[in-house]
Amino acid sequence: MKKYQVVVAGKMRACALAKINSECHVRQWDKIEPIPRNLLYEWLADAEGLVSTGDVRVDDELLAHAPHLRVIAQASVGYDNVDIAACTRRGIPFGNTPGVLVEATADLTFGLLLCAARRIHEGWNQVASGRWLNNHDVPFGIDLYGKTLGIVGMGRIGAAVARRARACGMQVIYHNRSRRADDEHLGAAYVAFDDLLAQADCIVVLVPLSPASRGMFGRAEFAKMKRTAYFINAARGGLVDTQALYDALKEGQIAYAALDVTDPEPLPGDHPLLTLPNVLITPHIGSATHETRDRMAMLTADNLLAGLAGRPLPACVNP
Ligand code: DGY
Repeated sequence: MKKYQVVVAGKMRACALAKINSECHVRQWDKIEPIPRNLLYEWLADAEGLVSTGDVRVDDELLAHAPHLRVIAQASVGYDNVDIAACTRRGIPFGNTPGVLVEATADLTFGLLLCAARRIHEGWNQVASGRWLNNHDVPFGIDLYGKTLGIVGMGRIGAAVARRARACGMQVIYHNRSRRADDEHLGAAYVAFDDLLAQADCIVVLVPLSPASRGMFGRAEFAKMKRTAYFINAARGGLVDTQALYDALKEGQIAYAALDVTDPEPLPGDHPLLTLPNVLITPHIGSATHETRDRMAMLTADNLLAGLAGRPLPACVNP
């Protein structure tokens, strides 16, 4: 049987790679650094399928180097690196992985909030470095019980975070492009964006990055928040004006930030944010559990193979 020609532009979970290998001839870039653009173009010359990664810009120029491409699949729910309109113009379906990472990402998002509120990482740092001296000089945080959580971007992950917050005794308000029909069931009240900024004790950001949402948290937005506010971003770094966030944290405009995503990403080791005492940053690990990454990779393989066979993708952004 003739095998499909496929480019895999980054590392991939073994279970999914085995599935792809059974039907495809694969050229894979499996180094830590992103694939060099020239090499990718060379490989794409005869490729029918592409497994892209978040650090590959999929745009008109790339597609022009891939005249035989019939499908692109990526193991993420976000696709801000992809020009979907350009794919659609060429009739190329783009598959992502919604749904399968909801609970893992909600766990990490709420975990960041909990960790920041109770200074768990600072406590660990004290103990690990032998500075655990007495009961008064330990890191002090805030109660989550009774506080108001504001969720900006109430999709599936937002709803899963709301469930966790309600279980901890928090009030939940949210802002979304449109009001959810099930918000009473979620125990979450829809409010205007500015009202959320003013009322929330803790703000969780779960909005997809697009040209419209880029930089939606800047100086004006931080100025509207409580000075005691905790700001959690688990979506994309580009939603936030990093300099404005730095200034807000430095000047006490808000109390604390916990970020799973940053702009730039990776964050350089000498970045000014890392000098602040009131910030906690994890390296974009929202979906990083063994089970979830396997599910994402398998859905990516299913998307790819369906597209190669001319079938509808199980999860397609541009059907
Ligand atoms: C996603 O799926 O978009 C996660 O952020 C991983 O990139």
